[in-house]
Amino acid sequence: MKVIAIYPGSFDPITNGHIYIAERAAAIFDEVIVSVLVNERKNSAFSVDERCEMARESLAHIKNITVDSFNGLLVDYVRQKNAGVIIRGLRAMSDFEYEFQMALMNRQLAPEIETFFIVTDPKYSYVSSSSVREIFHFGGTVRDVVPKNVFDKLREHYGKP
Ligand code: PNS
Repeated sequence: MKVIAIYPGSFDPITNGHIYIAERAAAIFDEVIVSVLVNERKNSAFSVDERCEMARESLAHIKNITVDSFNGLLVDYVRQKNAGVIIRGLRAMSDFEYEFQMALMNRQLAPEIETFFIVTDPKYSYVSSSSVREIFHFGGTVRDVVPKNVFDKLREHYGKP
């Protein structure tokens, strides 16, 4: 049976750390859907269309990955896609508490769905979308932690080096 996994997140923007997790997930599951949260409450730097476009370009080299967006409860979306697995990346122990709580909450809501954690490469353990945005905003270089298309988009967005 084909196993579909959903890799959800804000992806604001997608980083090399996310791409690493997506690549590893794609090597395990038949199909991976990278799903960008349409979050009306949280102020995103990039629109959902921009976040999806950056993710699509960054993941185009992986055949069994598609990019989509979702609204509302993650477990409802996972069921709608006939997926059985939620992928989440772990960078450090500090991620664990939040991730553990979210996994238990999702299990309570949908016991048949499994949360599958993938540990990042240590070289990405400090990379987050928010730090990428902030560093770029204040003129620092993020060239090594995001793909070229995202770097170009950051330049366009913030008008910085
Ligand atoms: O990249 P992020 O911001 O850490 O991703 C968080 C995300 C999108 C996975 C989480 O906020 C989510 O699933 N939101 C959808 C609403 C939902 O289902 N909430 C209950 C989970 S406890």
